[in-house]
Formats: sequence, structure tokens, C-alpha cells
Amino acid sequence: MSMNATTEGRCPVHQYPFDAVEGLDLDPEYARLRSEYPIARIRMPYGEDGWLATRYDDVRLVLSDSRFSRAAVVGADVPRSLPEVNEMPDTIINTDPPEHSRLRRLVSAAFTYRRIERLRPRVQEIADELVGDLLAAEKPADLIATVGMPLPVQVICELLGVPLAGRPLFRDATDAALSDASGTPEARAAAMQTLQTYIASLVAERRDQGADAPDDLISGLISARDADGDRLSEDELVMLVVTVLIGGHETTMNMTGNMVSTLLADRSRWAALAADPAGTVPRAVEEMLRFIPIAKHATQVRVATEDVEIGDVTIAAGDAVMVGIAAANRDPGAFDHPDELDLAEPGISHIAFGYGPHACLGSALARLELQVILTTLLTRVPTLDLAGPVEWRATSRVRGPLRLPVTW
Ligand code: HEM
Repeated sequence: MSMNATTEGRCPVHQYPFDAVEGLDLDPEYARLRSEYPIARIRMPYGEDGWLATRYDDVRLVLSDSRFSRAAVVGADVPRSLPEVNEMPDTIINTDPPEHSRLRRLVSAAFTYRRIERLRPRVQEIADELVGDLLAAEKPADLIATVGMPLPVQVICELLGVPLAGRPLFRDATDAALSDASGTPEARAAAMQTLQTYIASLVAERRDQGADAPDDLISGLISARDADGDRLSEDELVMLVVTVLIGGHETTMNMTGNMVSTLLADRSRWAALAADPAGTVPRAVEEMLRFIPIAKHATQVRVATEDVEIGDVTIAAGDAVMVGIAAANRDPGAFDHPDELDLAEPGISHIAFGYGPHACLGSALARLELQVILTTLLTRVPTLDLAGPVEWRATSRVRGPLRLPVTW
């Protein structure tokens, strides 16, 4: 039993999240739980006790079995690291079928692999421009400010039809909305409200433009809403755009920094990819998606709608279950050498994008962006190197460099 576990009845209760770890390390406690208590009883700073799944098969089960509900999380006192209870019923991530399928259908066509592949030339153009600016800048430069943040922001803005001029507003609001316990519930709620008000104003502008409105995702969603009011409520419309705007840049931005810093931390990795970017980058991206934990701790929580047995544990109806995606991606039962980063032999069945009905809507877009950014840097800046220690985000629930000083 770990130092921070207490025993209640016969089932030890583990304090979660575990102690903060540096940079991108995964707390070794996950591996211990995975072998000793794969469905572990956990206690978080707020909410009732719940369960944490850390095995690959169990995590996939929880993510895909309809007996585990996301909608039931709304308003419930589930285990969590922040004081506030989730009160956002109109968000795609907080719904179950059939509401979830209805919302998802409205946006999924824009994010299929084929539709996203058509964006490749435009994403390449943006990458070329940003990397050109980087090369023209003074050394050392911050890779996040110059490439990691602006690329996914510009791509998702163009796709949705959000003006780039809104970037300072929604970047600040996104950071505040995703703050960890160092931020206040009031500040997070105010930041979400800022995002909703901003998107609602863009929607109103589009409606005024009528037939002259540009052909982008916001216009498409407005038509779906206005053609048949039952398909999408106004709140759902706004929240869908906010979710795609946040999801569409925050994770890719952080993963860009995480991947570049991981490669540069051992320059032989960078050099190996630079020798043949086209032949190596797609596999390297998959392996880094598997290996790098992007969340500070598990956040995806579901509530059992009936008793479910997993192994020798019965998860009772009403119990909350969290999934350790990063732990599942290092499960020796699913991957050979799970704790080694092997860029040539990726663990392609990783679940970095989740699994089941809520699996990441933007996975094709994220893959495309990460492949294009890395290939462009490896090709045009093969001498790229770290110019100082990485400054990690200290106040976010998402892991990534706040600043990544590089030279070339
Ligand atoms: C490396 C980048 C990314 C990672 C690691 C990532 C990860 C994830 C994960 C793990 C989930 C599932 C959550 C759950 O089931 O509880 C998810 C859902 C989602 N992601 Fe991503 N994501 C990334 C990029 C993106 C991008 C570029 C978009 C832009 C469209 C996006 C939009 C979404 C949305 C809308 C959902 C909710 C889907 C639903 O509830 O049906 N993500 N993402």
C-alpha cells in the first residue's frame, strides 16, 4: 500500500492526484496501482470517493460502455481537484446518446480524415510562414510564442470562422478557464462566460450577414440551428463552437512544445528524424502521443448508471470512475516496452485521443498539425536546439511548456 493510502473496510483509499511530478514525467504510482489495484479506490480534494482505472482494457471499457455516463456527471459531487461542480449540460463532452450523437453529427463531417487532409496545403503554408518568421527572429526565441501557439490558433480560427483579432481575448480566457487549483472558481466561470459571450456575438454578426456570411463552420452550425430549431439549441450552438475553439488549439499547442522538447532533450532523436522527416515523422508523432502525458492528472470522469463488475471490483450504480489515459498508454499488457520512447516502432493502438463515442473529434486535425509542424522544423531548422531550461506551465491542468527557448 502506498504511503498516502488509508484503509477503509478492506479497500485502501488512495489520495489522488499523486504528488506533482516534474515536466512530462508520469508518476510511478500509476504503474504500482495498475499492477496492484487496477481499479483503485481514490479520494480527491473535493467530492465523494470514486474509482480510478489504469489498465488499458479497463480504461477502454469505461470510455466505451454505455453503462458509464458523462451526462450524470453534471451537477454531481464526483471526485475532482477543483471545488466547483460541473454545471455545463449543453456541452458535447457532457452528454450521452442520443443527445451526444445529435451534437456530434453536426460537427463530425468537418473533421473527418478526408476533409482534414484537404487542409494540409493551407496548414503547410501557415507553418512555412511562421517558421520563416522564427528564422528571421533574434536568437534565442520562444518556440511556443512563435510557432506552437499561433499555428493551431490560426488553423482553428479559419476553420470555424473566428477572426484572428480575437486571439488575445480567447487565449487569455482559455488559460484562465483551464487553470488548476491556483485559480479561483469565480475566475474560471468568468473566463467561460467571456468565451461564450464572444462566440455569441460572432453568431449574431453572422446572422446579420445573411446570405453574405462566409462558408465556415460557424455558418454551417447556424444553418443547422435555424433550419430546424430542434437540432441545436442556441446554448448548444455557442458551447459547441467554444469547445471546438478551446479543444482545437490548447492541446495541439501544448503537444507541439511537449514533442519538440522531448526530441531536443536527446538530440540524437532530433538528428535521426531530421535525416528523413517524411519517412519518420508520422510514426514519431504517434509514439509521442502514446508516451507523453498531456494531462496533469486524470480528469475524464464517468458515473456508472448500474452496477458494473470490472475484474474483482464492483462499481456500484452512482459511483464515479476516472480513467488514467496516460497510465493505460504505458500498460505492459498492451504495449511492448511501454516505458521506452521508441520513435521507429510506435505503440499505434494508444488511446491518447480517448476511445468510444467521445473519442477526440479533432484527432485527424491534431495529427496533421503536429506532423506538419515537426516536418517543417526538421526540414528548415535541422540545427534547432534548446537554448535554456524549459519553463513549464505551472497553473494549468494541461501540461506543456509556457516558454520553450530555442536556438539554431
Ligand atoms: C494532441 C491534441 C489532442 C489531444 C491529446 C486530445 C485529446 C482528447 C481526448 C482524450 C478526448 C476524449 C475525452 C473523453 O472521452 O473524456 C478528446 C475529446 C475531444 N476533443 Fe480532443 N484532443 C486533441 C486535439 C483536439 C483538436 C485539434 C480538437 C479540435 C476540433 C479537439 C476537439 C475535441 C472535442 C470537441 C472533444 C469532445 C468529443 C465528444 O465529446 O464527442 N481535440 N480529445
